[in-house]
Amino acid sequence: MAFAIKINGTTHSVDVDADTPLLWVLRDVLGMTGTKFGCGKALCGACTVHIDGVAARSCVAPIDGVGTSEITTIEAIGATPVGGMIQKAWLDREVVQCGYCQSGQIMSASALLASNPHPTDSDIDAAMSGNICRCGTYLRIREAIKQAAQ
Ligand code: FES
Ligand code: FES
Repeated sequence: MAFAIKINGTTHSVDVDADTPLLWVLRDVLGMTGTKFGCGKALCGACTVHIDGVAARSCVAPIDGVGTSEITTIEAIGATPVGGMIQKAWLDREVVQCGYCQSGQIMSASALLASNPHPTDSDIDAAMSGNICRCGTYLRIREAIKQAAQ
């Protein structure tokens, strides 16, 4: 079945089953591999993208539910004002360890700051609680979000 979806400002036509998760459309059909697969069950946050500016788990977002929504992925988040600040802070604070979870972390963090420019610690914890990091970079993530918020 054909779907037209808007990703990072460009409309793509894809021919997939209606229940295909957005994650696999991004990675396997469009070759956008910055968005990662971790659990496939909305439990780890590795697959986080923005759907109409809201952080969403693409592993459990079927393509037929995306409609005309604007999807933003890690490939384009740096071009947004908040995403650019987040990525700079990530580099300044040397957040990344193995890196596998980090595109999802950055997408959740940028959605947080876009909706709440001055988050408290508890706001940060609440927004980031669904993003798991096996390398334990949580403290640097929080520092980087605070830096970007300044
Ligand atoms: S792969 Fe989607 S939340 Fe883990
Ligand atoms: S940096 Fe390795 S899983 Fe987060």
